[in-house]
Amino acid sequence: MQTEPVIEARNLRKWYPVHRHRLASLLGRREPEFVKAVDGVNLAIGAGEILGLVGESGSGKSTTGMTLLKLHAPTGGDISFQGLGLLANETRSVRLAFRRQAQIVFQNPYEALNPRYTVAQSVGEPLAIHFRGQPALQREMLLRAMQRAGLLPAASYLERYPHQLSGGQLQRVAIARAISVEPRFLVADEPVSMLDVSIRAGILNLLRHFASDLRMAILYISHDLSTMRHVCTTIAVMYLGRIIETGPADTVLDAPLHPYTRALVGAVPVMGGRRTRPHTKLVGALPDAIRLPRGCRFHPRCPQAMEVCRVQEPVLQRAATDHDVACHLHGSLPMS
Ligand SMILES: Nc1ncnc2c1ncn2[C@@H]1O[C@H](COP(=O)(O)OP(=O)(O)OP(=O)(O)O)[C@@H](O)[C@H]1O
Ligand code: SF4
Ligand SMILES: [Mg+2]
Repeated sequence: MQTEPVIEARNLRKWYPVHRHRLASLLGRREPEFVKAVDGVNLAIGAGEILGLVGESGSGKSTTGMTLLKLHAPTGGDISFQGLGLLANETRSVRLAFRRQAQIVFQNPYEALNPRYTVAQSVGEPLAIHFRGQPALQREMLLRAMQRAGLLPAASYLERYPHQLSGGQLQRVAIARAISVEPRFLVADEPVSMLDVSIRAGILNLLRHFASDLRMAILYISHDLSTMRHVCTTIAVMYLGRIIETGPADTVLDAPLHPYTRALVGAVPVMGGRRTRPHTKLVGALPDAIRLPRGCRFHPRCPQAMEVCRVQEPVLQRAATDHDVACHLHGSLPMS
């Protein structure tokens, strides 16, 4: 990325304390335990970029999104927004600007919207907070957001309630609400996984439009690698709280290096033919994020695990231009 990122995280951590059973305390096991949901994540997203964050259920994708937005307080690390630090010495004006300019779209629009609010009330709510005392501007921004979300003609939706809308229309309302305040950074957490397959592309095209035409920086979270090529500029693969491979979307999908990514890519159905290269098969389940495996976190499931993998954790290293991987099998070029 050439320009300054809109959002950047360095060594971001989110550890949830484990509330232990009283019996464990009585037995004298006093050392605190944590679910290391996000455990040293580095990422940067520039204006106009869509970073796809992919990984199995429980790998820490949503926690990364929520922590980047500061909806969950980070345990450690740094977050910068448009070059200004959000954690250490954050000023009130930076905090307020961030609250407006960083928004999220959730997986389930039925839960995200108040069933007693009309579309106009739902979409208008953040505008009423951030543009208080400017009703004409609020109205203009509300209609613009609805148009951008594909709710056309906007006027025909304003007085409808959630129960009067389809799942796809509801997700568009949730999107209109998120973009009404014209954010610079948008997290889309599995925005289409609850929707009918036939309407997913329309919603994903909105994300592409927000990035390319409105220059938003977007974190697109999904289990589904098959949508990533269409949507993302860059992909980051997450495993047990860490990013283990990242690079341009085509590179990661066409030439995955980490055995875990190769397994995920291998599990994607191929239209009309055989694969040209063999892929690793994913076996076993994700270990729990409290007692992480020593060495490489993937070693208990990795068919290529070596002795070193059991003792030494690999770090992200440059394997090719813009393509980084954390695996002892790869990585020799110096990181820029
Ligand atoms: N509030 C919480 N308290 C304790 N543990 C949590 C909390 N939220 C998430 N976790 C744990 O953190 C880990 C990562 O969860 P997260 O929801 O971020 O994963 P995910 O990759 O988004 O999964 P999915 O694909 O199922 O949405 C999991 O082990 C989860 O159980
Ligand atoms: S470091 Fe070792 S165990 Fe981990 S993915 Fe690479 S080869 Fe497999
Ligand atoms: Mg999630």
